[in-house]
Amino acid sequence: MTAKEIYLEIRDILISGGVDSPENDARELIARFLGENRMALASAEAHDVSDSKRLAVIEAAKKRAGGYPLQYILGSWSFMGIDLDVCEGVLIPRDDTEVCVRECMALLAKRHGPFRIIDLCSGSGAIALALSAYYPDAEITAAELSETAFSVLCRNIEKNGASNVRAVKEDILTCADIFPDGSFDAIISNPPYIPSSELQTLQREVQSEPAMALDGGADGLDFYRAIASLWVRKLKQGGIIALEIGEEQSGSVCELLENNGVTGLRVTKDLGFLDRAVTGIVQ
Ligand SMILES: C[S@@+](CC[C@H](N)C(=O)[O-])C[C@H]1O[C@@H](n2cnc3c(N)ncnc32)[C@H](O)[C@@H]1O
Repeated sequence: MTAKEIYLEIRDILISGGVDSPENDARELIARFLGENRMALASAEAHDVSDSKRLAVIEAAKKRAGGYPLQYILGSWSFMGIDLDVCEGVLIPRDDTEVCVRECMALLAKRHGPFRIIDLCSGSGAIALALSAYYPDAEITAAELSETAFSVLCRNIEKNGASNVRAVKEDILTCADIFPDGSFDAIISNPPYIPSSELQTLQREVQSEPAMALDGGADGLDFYRAIASLWVRKLKQGGIIALEIGEEQSGSVCELLENNGVTGLRVTKDLGFLDRAVTGIVQ
């Protein structure tokens, strides 16, 4: 069979499985399993594919059709141009997270480096590594508690040659005091923020992601409470806090930060016009 015929076969598998973007996912799977890029696919009628490769990509398409995330099947995903390994046990980096990173960078642009930055709840290292690419002379700490996520974080630091990112395996709810007050120019975080009761209602793909990466406690705000009460004081005077938030959390998160001395609060929306990031400054 040709790559094009297999593409059509797996696209139909994905359509019957109710996958949102069957054409895109079929192309990604073909590229990953057959090594055919999007352009080659269009002119690949004559190219014969071995049975073993065909069976492997069909197997993957069936898994995807059953609701398993494409990113876990591919084993890597890109965030802000950074190639990151991902696997079960690690949150898949989302494009929405770029909102928080960009807002943090906009505030850093008004300051002089080199910066000391900490990324709390770093997961795959998406945020820390994106910042590392923009600020090669910054000193970036990436804190993550999960065993699996921590090992993927370390792998991604190495894979991207980010010698200015230091991974620490710590519980951010209890470890703040290993850093002296006034340590950082910026604290950035995309913490778990889904209310526990909503975890079961999430889209089927998200159900494959680790609950530890999503569960923000009864009202989804546990990590923001900890960041406001334990971490804000770790910022230097004029330091920046940048947090990704759930779409209905801007009021509560702003209040928590304001009660802990953060000023200049700003809420930024994502491309879907939903509140997605809160930033502020410590005076
Ligand atoms: C929403 S994910 C964000 C991952 C990554 N920053 C991103 O944007 O793709 C939250 C991360 O927090 C980690 N985490 C959960 N509880 C933690 C804790 N108490 N201390 C440190 N990390 C924690 C999870 O393992 C997960 O990797």
